[in-house]
Amino acid sequence: MRQCLLGLMFLHLCAIGCGPDREAIPQVTDQMAFGMGVAPSQLQHGRDLYMAHCNECHARVAPAKIDPEYWREILPHMSKNAKLSQSQLRDLQTYLIAAHGTVYQLDQQH
Ligand code: HEC
Repeated sequence: MRQCLLGLMFLHLCAIGCGPDREAIPQVTDQMAFGMGVAPSQLQHGRDLYMAHCNECHARVAPAKIDPEYWREILPHMSKNAKLSQSQLRDLQTYLIAAHGTVYQLDQQH
C-alpha cells in the first residue's frame, strides 16, 4: 500500500511539471567534463563554437533534441556548412553529446 501511494505521488509530480528541457543549452560543468573524460576547456570550446556558428542558416538545434548517434552522423556535414576544422568538429561534437546527456540526467533527479 505504501509503495503504491509513493508511486501515485511520483506520477502526479511528473504530470505537473517535469520532463527534460529540450531547448536547454547547458553550461559546461566539471562534472560534465568528467563524465566525458575530457578537459572542461574542450567542452567550453565546443559550446562557444556552437553558439557562434550554428545559427547562421537555421535556428540553433538544441543538444537534447538530437540523439547522440544522429549528432555523429549529421555533424560532419554541418561543420562543413559552418567551415569548421576537424578539431573544432571534435570539440563541438563532444560538447553536444555531453550536453544531451546532461539534460536527460537532470530530469532523472526530479
Ligand atoms: C551554411 C548553412 C548551415 C550552417 C552554417 C549550419 N547548418 Fe545545420 N542545416 C542546414 C541545412 C540546409 C539543413 C537541412 C538539411 C540538410 O542539409 O541536411 C540543416 C539541418 C541541420 C540539422 C538537422 C535537423 C533535423 O531535424 O534533422 C541539425 C541537427 C543541424 N543542421 C545542426 C547544425 C549545427 C550543430 C551547426 C553548427 C556547426 C549547423 N547546423 C550549421 C544548414 C546549415
